Amino acid sequence: MNKPNLNAPVITIDGPAGVGKGTLAHQLAADLGWAFLDSGAIYRVAALYALRHAIPLDNEDALVDAIRTLDIDCQQALILLNGENVSEAIRNETCASATSKIAALPQVRQALLALQQSFQQLPGLVADGRDMGTVVFAHAPLKLFLTASAEVRAERRLKQLKRQGLEADLAQLVKDISERDYRDANRAVAPLKAAADAQVIDTSRLSVAEVKALVTPMLRALGYLPA
Ligand code: DC
Repeated sequence: MNKPNLNAPVITIDGPAGVGKGTLAHQLAADLGWAFLDSGAIYRVAALYALRHAIPLDNEDALVDAIRTLDIDCQQALILLNGENVSEAIRNETCASATSKIAALPQVRQALLALQQSFQQLPGLVADGRDMGTVVFAHAPLKLFLTASAEVRAERRLKQLKRQGLEADLAQLVKDISERDYRDANRAVAPLKAAADAQVIDTSRLSVAEVKALVTPMLRALGYLPA
């Protein structure tokens, strides 16, 4: 694991599932030529390992012991667990639900912190998650927090799953997303919330291009894009 380069700029993008964080983060990273961190994927890999090895999702000590032995590697969309490509295996709802459970455990979050922070490298990083702006990169110069109504988010998730060839039911998705959000927003450690200095953007009625149009002046003001 590399040491973080604290001189490298970081843009954090936080918010609940289905607000368009991933798409925005990918596009900003591509536009800027920066790296991209999907921190949810890191939590998902840990959950996948726990599911595969029948580690109880509330056994914090056992989870942390297991996590310490894992080799988790994220290179853009390619996610490796001990060398195996698990990019698709981590994307189903069973894994998402398990992930939300283990992500509520303080020691699990602590065990995955340094790995996430190691992504801060030059020329810069766009980091997508729930606590990027509040905890992991608390000193980031630009913090975005995206929101959207539950219905819009469930519909987006449904489309995303369909594109991946996965079946899902809209009503069930709304329920799953609401439960997961409730856990994420109400956990004791690093709950999902906007940092005090975050720019909050409601994406319910905005296309990705419209969200980018709001963010572009912020990138120019910081000198990340030419004026
Ligand atoms: O963004 P995602 O759907 O891949 O996230 C999966 C789960 O992990 C979700 O329940 C929120 C949790 N998570 C978290 O607690 N902290 C992060 N930085 C990223 C994700």
